[in-house]
Amino acid sequence: MVTDDNGCTNTFFSKYEALASSLPASEKGIGSFPYRKYEGFWYPEHLLVLTLAIRDTFVARPTDVILATIPKSGTTWLKALVYCVVHRSHHAPADERHPLLASSPHDVVPFLHSIYENHLSAPPGPLLEEMPSPRILAVHAPFTALPASVRESACRVLYLCRDPKDAFVSLRHYLDEIKPEGSCSMTPFAEAFDLFCDGVSPFGPVWDNMAEYWKESVARPEEVMFLRYEDLKEETVGSVRRLAAFLGCPFTDEEAERGVPAEIVALCSMDKMRSVQANRDGMHRNGRSWFKNSAFFRTGEVGDWKAHMTLEMARRLDDIVEEKLRGSGLSMISKP
Ligand code: A3P
Repeated sequence: MVTDDNGCTNTFFSKYEALASSLPASEKGIGSFPYRKYEGFWYPEHLLVLTLAIRDTFVARPTDVILATIPKSGTTWLKALVYCVVHRSHHAPADERHPLLASSPHDVVPFLHSIYENHLSAPPGPLLEEMPSPRILAVHAPFTALPASVRESACRVLYLCRDPKDAFVSLRHYLDEIKPEGSCSMTPFAEAFDLFCDGVSPFGPVWDNMAEYWKESVARPEEVMFLRYEDLKEETVGSVRRLAAFLGCPFTDEEAERGVPAEIVALCSMDKMRSVQANRDGMHRNGRSWFKNSAFFRTGEVGDWKAHMTLEMARRLDDIVEEKLRGSGLSMISKP
């Protein structure tokens, strides 16, 4: 139930809560919250309520930049990179007063669902309307659950996903990090893995979430860009240059010569971001819960699943993903 700071229910959300609670539920879920299935995707129940409210009320502008990601695919990193690229004329990446040296990437680029959850003057229209263009906003929702205006406005959508094996391992660690103090134990690893393979994960099945955005990026490459964490890691400067061009603000030759793309990459690197006090000791709020910003920075490695999963588990998940994406032209597997 979506409630305000005093625990009062907000009536704007009531109809979505009623719908969500009438949907098929998963008895178990990864994490300590109930999951509901809506139009083929599994959602933590409170996030489904917010996703539906956003779908019905958020109005995209043509200048908006929507960052869409599978949870634990590098959202925090993408937020930092895109913020730097878009605002580089006001905030030089080498400037020691750069906002990302004082604030978490999640503060400078909010999730739409956090805005809805944190501002229960329902819906938070005025707040969103007052945000200057270009607004950079993040979502985890599947493409088909986005507001129609995202497509109609032709705003830019940047999608980031990751090898599902690493996304699963990262998700497990994150949920362990943020679980409320004194809360009961986590879903055991093997059980959580079975759920993930059955598609029961936040905004999953992950392969369907990827396939929707992939299809859209093939159909509308000028408006939807598909990125993989692994590619971003391998070729960060090149990826940053490509995403700047996609966003309509390519680096000039003079900027390239001065090394601005490389400066952005350095500012947003794991080591630099982790050293920022707001990311080390800060907290951020989602609804009535507070989360440690440090939980968003772990190893940042490609292939960390090898330290946590058996080869048999890896093959099982790879086979599922390969089978589900067959014929789409998309491949997400980094083989054992
Ligand atoms: P690991 O848990 O595998 O280390 P999200 O931001 O979507 O929640 O994703 C979190 C994942 O991105 C974590 O992966 C985290 O360590 C990694 N990450 C966070 N900041 C990063 C950065 N600046 N560079 C590379 N990876 C980063």
